[in-house]
Amino acid sequence: MLMATERLILRRFRATDAATLAEYRSDPEVARYQSWDAPFPLAKAETAVRNFAASSPDQPGWFQYAIEHTAERVLIGDVAVRLHDNLRQAEIGFTLATAYQKMGYATEAVSAVLDRLFRLQGLHRVMGECDARNTASAALLERLGFTREGLLRQQTFIKGEWTDDLLFGILAPEWLARDPG
Ligand SMILES: CC(C)(COP(=O)(O)OP(=O)(O)OC[C@H]1O[C@@H](n2cnc3c(N)ncnc32)[C@H](O)[C@@H]1OP(=O)(O)O)[C@@H](O)C(=O)NCCC(=O)NCCS
Repeated sequence: MLMATERLILRRFRATDAATLAEYRSDPEVARYQSWDAPFPLAKAETAVRNFAASSPDQPGWFQYAIEHTAERVLIGDVAVRLHDNLRQAEIGFTLATAYQKMGYATEAVSAVLDRLFRLQGLHRVMGECDARNTASAALLERLGFTREGLLRQQTFIKGEWTDDLLFGILAPEWLARDPG
């Protein structure tokens, strides 16, 4: 286990997570603003989970935290972090299975990851990017104290159309002041 919160465990992915990952990534609502298409086949999930498990949260590149519901002992989503080569900046992404949305779990999980990044890993800045229509994602980033920094017009060609992307950022002093201790 990497971290524990009131209701969640954040840990590495393992091979047995592949079926659940395939299931929530196959939900068209979950995939709507994401880079993958639904359905997301089990074989792809198996490869993804192998890659997630082999990467490190302290090395440059992507690391995927598995979000496990502590009481129910089920995988309910993930938090993705791309650490830059300088180890002082990162990009963050997140996904929750539909059945576990709107209960504060994303706020709880991403807060724990930001705490790790800013307090333990000494990051200077974390950014988040989402489709401008992804109101749940933008609301989550704002709830966590990110500042909306820009709008990239027709920046991404995804699922057959050019889409606008919103950019968000948070700096270490902002996170540390917001959540002291
Ligand atoms: C983005 C995403 C993770 C946000 O999830 P979310 O469920 O809106 O966020 P949270 O889990 O923090 O839940 C917050 C909601 O739960 C409510 N809530 C209920 N109980 C709560 C509690 N104990 N603590 C905090 N909030 C609680 C909040 O009021 C809030 O509701 P609101 O949006 O109506 O104000 C989710 O929409 C998702 O997975 N989408 C699909 C994948 C995706 O697009 N990812 C982003 C790519 S950029």
